[in-house]
Amino acid sequence: MKIVSSIKDLKNFLALEREKGKKIGLVPTMGALHAGHISLVKRCVAENDICVVSDFVNPTQFNDKHDLETYPRTLEADCALLEPVGCDYVFAPSVAEMYPEPDTRVFDLGPVAAVMEGPRRPGHFNGVAQVVSKLFYIVEPDNAYFGEKDFQQIAVIREMVRQLNLPVHIVDCPIQREADGLALSSRNTRLTPEQRQKAPVIARTLKESTTFVPAKSVQEVIDFVVNTINQVPEMKVEYFEIVDGHTMQSIKNWSDTTYPVGCITVYCGEVRLIDNIKY
Ligand code: PAJ
Repeated sequence: MKIVSSIKDLKNFLALEREKGKKIGLVPTMGALHAGHISLVKRCVAENDICVVSDFVNPTQFNDKHDLETYPRTLEADCALLEPVGCDYVFAPSVAEMYPEPDTRVFDLGPVAAVMEGPRRPGHFNGVAQVVSKLFYIVEPDNAYFGEKDFQQIAVIREMVRQLNLPVHIVDCPIQREADGLALSSRNTRLTPEQRQKAPVIARTLKESTTFVPAKSVQEVIDFVVNTINQVPEMKVEYFEIVDGHTMQSIKNWSDTTYPVGCITVYCGEVRLIDNIKY
């Protein structure tokens, strides 16, 4: 496994691989890797000849300066997880390497970015599109792997790829969870022991809500989920929307889509947790 910090070096290595006819897969990450990320890497290794994992805390997607400053940076521990699963290249550039000048590109990502996380984290998806498009130009992957944990992010990236006509296949990978259902996240370590004990109510309630479909209406399912979670001390639902899984637009009736997905964000104390479920 090679750890590369220069764009030029990585492009040279990958050009040689491509000359040999190797298929290249990319897993974009911000590091602080856990078993959720590693599941994407394993899939990438299995489906490509060469697996590249980017490990870069992208400043342009943070709308909170404190969040950016406190984001864990654990490159050594990340590499220790990546090597045994067969990663070939870890791309860990500096901010100056990725952004030698400010990235002034403004993406119009349309309706998929205008809902849920979009308005609540202004500039976030634009920053994601900036860094992921740069990664796609640098690595030129055949396949790129993203987790359904960040369900809306995948839709935004698909939209960007469509608009820019990038020749990359986007592969979505299922959410990895703790034994008690809590979706794996680097943020889980910020929960107090009491909060950690309560947090599985999110996944448990989402799962229970699927048993009411289609007997209960969309609005009744929304009310059940929001009320059940809000009853738990320290837990506050920021939003819960049932959307068409392709367009991200809210549905009113189950018959409005063949692909209904419930997307939730919950504050557990100060920690913002996200999850989703397919109906
Ligand atoms: P990051 O939060 O590091 O996540 C990297 C990838 O891992 C994302 O595709 C995310 O959805 C996936 N992931 C995280 N937790 C997961 C889990 N429990 N199960 C399955 N997949 C999981 O998302 C980002 O970084 C950034 O926005 C990035 C795309 C790298 C651009 O900077």
